[in-house]
Amino acid sequence: MIFADTSLKPSEKLPGAKIGIFDSGLGGLFVARSIIKKLPQYDYIYLGDTARLPYGDLSQDTIYAHLKEAAEFLFARGCKLIVVACNTVSAAALRKIQKQFLPRHYPDRRILGVIVPTIEEVVAHSPQIVGVLSTTSTAKSHAYKKEIAKIKPHIKVIEMPAPRIVPHLESGKLKAAKDAARKYIAPLLNQNIDSLILGCTHYGILKKDIRNIAEPRVRVFSQEEIIPKKLAAYLAKHPELRSVLGRKAGREFLVTQRTRHFDILARKWFGADIKLRKVALI
Ligand code: DGL
Repeated sequence: MIFADTSLKPSEKLPGAKIGIFDSGLGGLFVARSIIKKLPQYDYIYLGDTARLPYGDLSQDTIYAHLKEAAEFLFARGCKLIVVACNTVSAAALRKIQKQFLPRHYPDRRILGVIVPTIEEVVAHSPQIVGVLSTTSTAKSHAYKKEIAKIKPHIKVIEMPAPRIVPHLESGKLKAAKDAARKYIAPLLNQNIDSLILGCTHYGILKKDIRNIAEPRVRVFSQEEIIPKKLAAYLAKHPELRSVLGRKAGREFLVTQRTRHFDILARKWFGADIKLRKVALI
């Protein structure tokens, strides 16, 4: 068991600031697990908006409104920093919340996404043709293409919406999820990608299968291998933030809808016997 210390310590009772991890659902637990493994000393509040999942087909305005509610909720519970584990939210709403909402209402708090740190890691490996598997909303935003073009305009980026994978994984149909992944990846392989970004929290769950499907020449980038070290580097660069973070290894796992099925998925994806607690965002 990696996390012997996952017992709930209610965040309200912990004195220091917490790190919030927000996702549209439970897929973000897969990323949260590796963040907490890398930086176990801090206090965390995970929030999954399971009542409104999936976000993958929602409009950008709706996703922004959901993120704002989640941010208000996590800030009210003492988070100084929120990591948006969800690519769909990072693509649709991160820039706006960072530029408009935070400076006006919470100038001393931070919200970080997953797209730019992922891209930094990918371009460091000098790719030529990059495939991106994501939700429909992320693909339509062209967030990956635009952000890669800002750093390395010569890299060709092929974005592939993969809307069937998340619903299959969420309903526990692993074989169907793998079959769907195979179908979405085939056209990318035909276009000779040398790198493949798993641009959705849930896809890391299929990482081994996707590495098998994708042929050895393709480097597969999975965010739970990238985000923890990028977060550690961010905190190292921001002592003013790091110094206010509580270090009591507190963990809370909050969801907007709780079912038996969600309890089972949460344990599986976090890799430990965690307890979900239902909360209302508004
Ligand atoms: N968590 C979302 C992401 O990373 C996918 C799930 C959803 O559609 O809500 O893109």
